[in-house]
Amino acid sequence: MRTAAAVIVSNEMIARDIYRMVLKTDLGQETACGQFVQVAVPGYFLRRPISVHRASEDELSLIYRIAGDGTRTMSTLNAGETVDLFGPLGSGFPLLDEDVTLIGGGVGVPPLVETAFRYIQAGYNVTAVLGFSDKDVMICRDELEALGCQVVIATMDGSAGYKGTVLDAIEQAELPVKTVLACGPLPMLKAVAARYDGYISLEERMACGIGACMGCVIRTPDGDSRRICKDGPVFRIGEVEL
Ligand SMILES: Cc1cc2nc3c(=O)[nH]c(=O)nc-3n(C[C@H](O)[C@H](O)[C@H](O)COP(=O)(O)OP(=O)(O)OC[C@H]3O[C@@H](n4cnc5c(N)ncnc54)[C@H](O)[C@@H]3O)c2cc1C
Ligand code: FES
Repeated sequence: MRTAAAVIVSNEMIARDIYRMVLKTDLGQETACGQFVQVAVPGYFLRRPISVHRASEDELSLIYRIAGDGTRTMSTLNAGETVDLFGPLGSGFPLLDEDVTLIGGGVGVPPLVETAFRYIQAGYNVTAVLGFSDKDVMICRDELEALGCQVVIATMDGSAGYKGTVLDAIEQAELPVKTVLACGPLPMLKAVAARYDGYISLEERMACGIGACMGCVIRTPDGDSRRICKDGPVFRIGEVEL
């Protein structure tokens, strides 16, 4: 991991309050799927952790939702400006020797796109079940289909795909699910972890992002602790208490 000054190639709204920022940087060469970078936002002391959506030799892509002032400021940055990145950070999703079902909710979906790419490149079948509140915040469906995934959509208001949660969609579509890789809001991850085996990616407010400040600690069932930023954000289901 290291800091890198990256030039913004584009920073555009792709859905309601959701932006995609493409950055010119060589950090992608060392980035595994499911890892994140800490983005220095002008005017803010703490960096904002954002998952890597796509990584290539000379570009990184991030997809972020405006959650507060920091990400709102990010959304005002223009192509040609420079941002400081720190990363890649965290453990990332494992590359297992099998077909997988990706389960994503909201802005938990972006890291699953690079993950899907790597599984498909390795010759595995990937099903992606994506959940959103409504169709206006639906992201990444087309690019996952273009990569070769079977994509199933769930929206809470029924405006796209199956009405209900990702688990409702799995049931209604009668999808066979064995091993899952999931990222999204905590209630979704809890429901997924109660039903399936696999790996989940967690979020927590972060300060250092490198395991030093203990600001992102989570408990294991046997009373031990893990740092989400360094030991995670991806954990085997059952390894930590949700
Ligand atoms: C490993 C990791 C990967 C992430 N990847 C993405 C991503 O790919 N796309 C994306 O849109 N967001 C992602 N997030 C969440 C993102 O970091 C926060 O939304 C962002 O830092 C909020 O900054 P802000 O200044 O806009 O909001 P703030 O003013 O700091 O907070 C606004 C609201 O967001 C909540 N919030 C702040 N930080 C976090 C956090 N780290 N996790 C959860 N909620 C938070 C606050 O509790 C508050 O309710 C990720 C978080 C982590 C830890
Ligand atoms: S953010 Fe400092 S230990 Fe995780």
